[in-house]
Amino acid sequence: MTATATLANPGPTPAIVPTLRDHLSANGLREFSEGRKYRRWMRGKIGATKCATIDWYRNEAHGFHYQVMRTAMYDEIGAPGVFGPVASERYGAMLASGEAVLPFLPAAGRILDVGCATGVLTSWWAMQVPGATVTGCDNTPAAVSTANQGDAHAGNVSFVVADATLGLPDGPFSLVISTQSVVENADELPSVLGHIASVLAPDGTYLAIEPLSTLRGVRTYTEFANDAGMVLQSLGMVPYLMFGALQAYPVLEYRRVDGLPIASSVDITEAYATAYRAIFGKEPPTAPHSAGSPG
Ligand SMILES: C[S@@+](CC[C@H](N)C(=O)[O-])C[C@H]1O[C@@H](n2cnc3c(N)ncnc32)[C@H](O)[C@@H]1O
Repeated sequence: MTATATLANPGPTPAIVPTLRDHLSANGLREFSEGRKYRRWMRGKIGATKCATIDWYRNEAHGFHYQVMRTAMYDEIGAPGVFGPVASERYGAMLASGEAVLPFLPAAGRILDVGCATGVLTSWWAMQVPGATVTGCDNTPAAVSTANQGDAHAGNVSFVVADATLGLPDGPFSLVISTQSVVENADELPSVLGHIASVLAPDGTYLAIEPLSTLRGVRTYTEFANDAGMVLQSLGMVPYLMFGALQAYPVLEYRRVDGLPIASSVDITEAYATAYRAIFGKEPPTAPHSAGSPG
């Protein structure tokens, strides 16, 4: 006689979270090792006119016209079907920063993603933490509208229009994230970081993975964060490939501190140099004006 094993109730099937690569692919992104191939593919995807329009706004975004051109550019990029092809230029950066956020995601509580665009990374983070509530905000209404139309989103994510220079969705948030979004206009940083600090829960964390390409940039960003009442907890760096070239962004973890002196145990120079050496195998450039990526 054969024994029949009794199957324990397996319970509800856990949601299957796609890998970030699969998620990026489902959202229209593709990885390229050559800029020229990317441009050809992207033009084919969004059309020559749209491509030229975005290029024009991007090239004209300086001086007096800066804000109006950036706004117009993001409006074009936020339309359905456009963000994926255009953002494929930053495929490596999105992949790297998306994964670098994972260790910081709280299992529960409220999370805010500032400058979420069409919510590609926001929705993937939300899938990782079904017990948390995730809000994405962006100052481009077209991008938020596209985000809200997305069908690949987890049930615990929502998107709203908000300009971080003016105000953010009501807190308190345990974690505020910004990835390649708020470092566009240095003049705006004090108000943006002030608003971020104001919606953080006491002891809440702000995680910035922004295109700060020099030690000096990291220092200045941290001074603005200090002025807003946030203290640096850790400084790492995340490597990524852009068309085959090794690059890196700093990963800056800040904590809100109420009424306490802003004293960080992080030695910024040492932490930056250690992270830089680990990625590039050499000392970081010392020239104060070294431009471009750390690479
Ligand atoms: C390069 S995209 C990055 C999107 C996303 N964080 C990511 O990593 O894929 C930058 C986004 O930041 C948004 N943004 C820039 N300044 C902002 C501000 N002051 N308030 C809210 N969103 C802002 C833009 O509208 C744009 O959608």
